[in-house]
Amino acid sequence: MTSVLVAGGASGIGRAAVRGFRARGDSVLVADLDLARAQEVAAEDLPGPAAALGVDLSTPSGPAAAVAAAVEHGGSLDVVFGNAGLLRAAPLAEWTVEDWDRTMALNLRAPFLLAQAAAPHLRRSPLARLIFTSSTGALRGHAGMPAYHASKAGLNNLVRALADELSPDGVRVNTVCPGWVDTPFNDAFWQHQDDPAAALDALTASIPLRRQAVPEDIVGLVLFLASPASDYITGQSLVIDGGYTAV
Ligand SMILES: NC(=O)c1ccc[n+]([C@@H]2O[C@H](COP(=O)([O-])OP(=O)(O)OC[C@H]3O[C@@H](n4cnc5c(N)ncnc54)[C@H](O)[C@@H]3O)[C@@H](O)[C@H]2O)c1
Repeated sequence: MTSVLVAGGASGIGRAAVRGFRARGDSVLVADLDLARAQEVAAEDLPGPAAALGVDLSTPSGPAAAVAAAVEHGGSLDVVFGNAGLLRAAPLAEWTVEDWDRTMALNLRAPFLLAQAAAPHLRRSPLARLIFTSSTGALRGHAGMPAYHASKAGLNNLVRALADELSPDGVRVNTVCPGWVDTPFNDAFWQHQDDPAAALDALTASIPLRRQAVPEDIVGLVLFLASPASDYITGQSLVIDGGYTAV
């Protein structure tokens, strides 16, 4: 049975991915800051076995604790989906060093530490996947969110370095780059807009598919990257955005 760690799996894209992995029979460890919601997700009636862990992935020890729990739950580790992220939006003058470091600790350092802790286990796996949630925010920039854009761009280059080191041993390392996904995650961005309703209308009009994604839209790509069908893909960042960055 494929053993999967979903880091940041209690809400949004992570929760939808947990459901997708479990629906195909995988064993999943749902690691999240919000233990109660992670437990709810793990308790859903789906084929693959699941367990929950409450963990702060932005701490130096959190990612390794999540990997250890996934190995204990699944008996091995084949797939890490590192998905937790943080979005702070504020005018440039209001940013503190602590704000900057908080974003980097979760969005960029946690994927690095997940990879470091998982690598010995993945090297023994016949599937062996590291998948991280980046963003189209890695490819462009919006006012008020300097750390978010810098961290996601860094993540896309982190997977190149990790692929160079780990892929000779069979580990595929990639990011998915969603465009706009309708989850609580973007609340900070909308609150930063002068007229949130008008901003949402303008955004929707700028997306060729004329809507934000729902979390389930992202899951097919994640499952593809966590399957043998993607055996020849590594070191890549795959955009899934309804055409947002195409125009
Ligand atoms: N929503 C979007 O429009 C969008 C677009 C592109 C990329 N993303 C990325 O997708 C990922 C998931 O976002 P989402 O939209 O599903 O958000 P969400 O808020 O629905 O879910 C995020 C999850 O991460 C968990 N989390 C937050 N901080 C954590 C920490 N320190 N330790 C452990 N868990 C923590 C939360 O508890 C939550 O369960 C993020 O990396 C985000 O950058 C989101």
